[in-house]
Amino acid sequence: MIDVLAPAEAIQAAPELASVYLSAFGAPGYDEEPERAEQFASEQIPTHSERDDFKLVVSRAGGEITGFAYGFTGHRGQWWSDRIAAAVTPELADEWIGGHFEVVELAVRVEAQRQGLGAELMNALIEDLPNRRALLTTYSDDRPAPRLYRRLGWKLLVPDLGWGSALYGLDRGVPVGQ
Ligand SMILES: CC(C)(COP(=O)(O)OP(=O)(O)OC[C@H]1O[C@@H](n2cnc3c(N)ncnc32)[C@H](O)[C@@H]1OP(=O)(O)O)[C@@H](O)C(=O)NCCC(=O)NCCS
Repeated sequence: MIDVLAPAEAIQAAPELASVYLSAFGAPGYDEEPERAEQFASEQIPTHSERDDFKLVVSRAGGEITGFAYGFTGHRGQWWSDRIAAAVTPELADEWIGGHFEVVELAVRVEAQRQGLGAELMNALIEDLPNRRALLTTYSDDRPAPRLYRRLGWKLLVPDLGWGSALYGLDRGVPVGQ
């Protein structure tokens, strides 16, 4: 079951989201520290929940959150947009960056992985967005996340931005209402 959480609901759920975050990103090979999950709950979610078109989707089993994905409409002048724009060609930046939907995080609890939840969450996140283009960065090596994005039709725009991350884009065609 996938639910969309409003910004206030996302803030309320932040501790539970952080526990999912730690399960997924604290696993061997990802190795994030518990402090990063705490910062995710106390700073990242509250800050990002105020961004344009913030959207967060969760999967649940028995009432417990098993996975989530979220993003918002990104603009030039924001840290991520400007960092990516500086790392790609001007042509690519002009075409893709600014007004895009920025997928910030996707995580599924280790014990709930490999059952299709990651794909379901991404599909629910992207569904019905007003943005023509969506962007995300992920690991540049071969892992479940980049495989999943490619399977869902995301295009590899830059294999390595210079810090071990690859840039992927999704062109959804003409935005709704235009
Ligand atoms: C990336 C991530 C969210 C994927 O979540 P998931 O729920 O396992 O995703 P899916 O189940 O849709 O797909 C994962 C794999 O399971 C397979 N799978 C899906 N349903 C399956 C089923 N019923 N039986 C067997 N395998 C299945 C998929 O084919 C896929 O295989 P692949 O990795 O060999 O390509 C999860 O691995 C994760 O949280 N990773 C750590 C955090 C991370 O990397 N986040 C993304 C940062 S950009």
